[in-house]
Amino acid sequence: MAQDTGALDDLLREDRRFPPPGSFVASAVVRDPGVYERAAADPEAYWAEWASKLDWFEPWHTVLEWNPPYAKWFLGGKLNVSHNCLDRHVEAGRGARTALIWEGEPGDTKTYTYAELHAEVCAFANVLRGLGVERGDRVTIYLPMIPEAAVAMLACTRIGAVHSVVFGGFSPDSLADRNNDASSKVLITADGGWRRGGIVPLKANADESLKTSPTVEHVVVVRRGGTLSEQTPADMREGRDHWYHELMADASSDCAAEWMDAEDNLFILYTSGTTGKPKGVVHTTGGYLTQVCATTRAVFDLHDDDVYWCTADVGWITGHSYIVYGPLANCAQIVMYEGAPDTPDRGRFWQICEKYGVTIFYTAPTAIRAFMRWGDEWPAKSDLSSLRLLGTVGEPINPEAWMWYHQVIGHERCPIVDTWWQTETGAIMITPLPGLTETKPGTATLPFPGIQATILTNDGKEARAGLLAITTPWPSMLRTVWGDDRRFRETYWSKWKDIYFPGDGAKMDDDGYLWILGRVDDVLNVAGHRIGTMEVESALVDHQAVVEAAVVGKKHDIKGEAIAAFVTTREGVEPTDALNAELRDHVGRKIGAIAKPEVIVFTAELPKTRSGKIMRRLLRDIAEGRAVGDTTTLADPAVVRRLQQMHEAEEG
Ligand code: PRX
Repeated sequence: MAQDTGALDDLLREDRRFPPPGSFVASAVVRDPGVYERAAADPEAYWAEWASKLDWFEPWHTVLEWNPPYAKWFLGGKLNVSHNCLDRHVEAGRGARTALIWEGEPGDTKTYTYAELHAEVCAFANVLRGLGVERGDRVTIYLPMIPEAAVAMLACTRIGAVHSVVFGGFSPDSLADRNNDASSKVLITADGGWRRGGIVPLKANADESLKTSPTVEHVVVVRRGGTLSEQTPADMREGRDHWYHELMADASSDCAAEWMDAEDNLFILYTSGTTGKPKGVVHTTGGYLTQVCATTRAVFDLHDDDVYWCTADVGWITGHSYIVYGPLANCAQIVMYEGAPDTPDRGRFWQICEKYGVTIFYTAPTAIRAFMRWGDEWPAKSDLSSLRLLGTVGEPINPEAWMWYHQVIGHERCPIVDTWWQTETGAIMITPLPGLTETKPGTATLPFPGIQATILTNDGKEARAGLLAITTPWPSMLRTVWGDDRRFRETYWSKWKDIYFPGDGAKMDDDGYLWILGRVDDVLNVAGHRIGTMEVESALVDHQAVVEAAVVGKKHDIKGEAIAAFVTTREGVEPTDALNAELRDHVGRKIGAIAKPEVIVFTAELPKTRSGKIMRRLLRDIAEGRAVGDTTTLADPAVVRRLQQMHEAEEG
């Protein structure tokens, strides 16, 4: 478990309470406390009520069919996601409303109204059709945080293609793995994107990945423009590669939306698990859109005049659900930013909040901890009085960071919604409702109405401390793992009968609030990014100098967790600083920079049980400089002392 018991005790001693501000309660989207009881009494009716706010070409005949672990929601219903995010609002006379305000890292900006976004999406949907993309085909999207990322996603949904967005920080190898796993027909990328003043060479990475991605027939390349495109000319291969702007110049913006079945696949999103191979989490159409739409409205208390900014990247589930689909389904005015929070200076986020009058701000604890470290003077330079609601997601937020967020960013005026959910859950599951819930720093509080969560022991008994469990199906749940249904059943549904196992430890306090304590499996959460220890280990042993590697998480002040690797080198290979750097780069090349180990400790041996199993618990103790626990099952107890010495030397 990620948290040690000291931190846990601190958490549970937390007794500060923050009731919703009075001004907030009066006009909150959800202000009837009876909602929880109503939803619990008849969850299907509750979700159907939300679903009926969407446009359906044909109504559903059955709300839920539950054959554990397979759920189908809104059976028989036909709808289209891009229609619900765009046409529906344009048809309601809201075409001139701002949909998207985008700012690039160098400061260039672009704004789209709903009518403009609709036209762009329709035109690009026609482009995709022109490239031979048909209903059900997979399309990989590997783009920076530019409007075309949202356009590409929505265009896929318009024609019933299944998108697989790959985070721009992933390496060519990771991209190729995802192209191949999904058998993508088309890849959409850009010549590059800006990040911390540098260029992310997306097209060059894409080209590298295409050497081993035989299913990809066409590549569409967005020209990021300006100096980037001058400095990074894309190498366009005749017949395969096409410029986005050239294809769009001839495309009609008239494109009828496909009538999709509620249970048709909407997208695949790869996420790390406990093996070396990421899982393609599959989400479908009707249930997903219903829950992201409902939670965006209720959790962020979305009103007409709000300006909403979620700082995630579209490459992660947060970007899918709470930059693109949830906000657009609600006709929200969205801010999207391309780059880093400290470029050109550490006040960038706050300048953006002031400039666009952001009212709702959703970010990750790792970012909040970095802001804290950078100092209060940065937010103090900007007028943050437009903010009225703050959110966090991605990892447990430590009470200290929560209090800083509350005081320095929210000026003690803004409720904070700490939202627990996962790629697999598709949408927010555990969260305060800002007009109803008294919050406490460090807890995501209560399940959203219509969601049933509890804490169970390994053998399925209710407990106050143990493993988080979701006991009933929910609309936006993953339906399977792409191409590996067995893995779906084994990973999530084999611990208890017909109950979903998210992989998190949790505790419940006297108010019934849930305190999420972090992963209990071999999945790390580094700066809010999910990374499997096995993926990093596979990347390390892929290097010819390495025989064996064990990777664990170690506590990190800003990132939450950092990666520590214990590596055994091949006979005769000197464990030098140069090799250390080379291995870090190797992992960066195999997976992406986010997976580079923070520390690598070279060791002649790893602590193993007599049956040969690596004792990760001991490695975590060593990595975090703690007294090591029970070593009696070790084959060679002396190895621990030697490792501790090497780790201390490495840490300097
Ligand atoms: O451990 C939990 C943590 O992030 C994991 C899910 O990661 P991912 O699928 O990448 O999705 C992140 C964005 C939804 C969870 O298993 N997690 C997410 N939100 C919270 C959290 N842990 C504690 N509190 C949260 N609010």
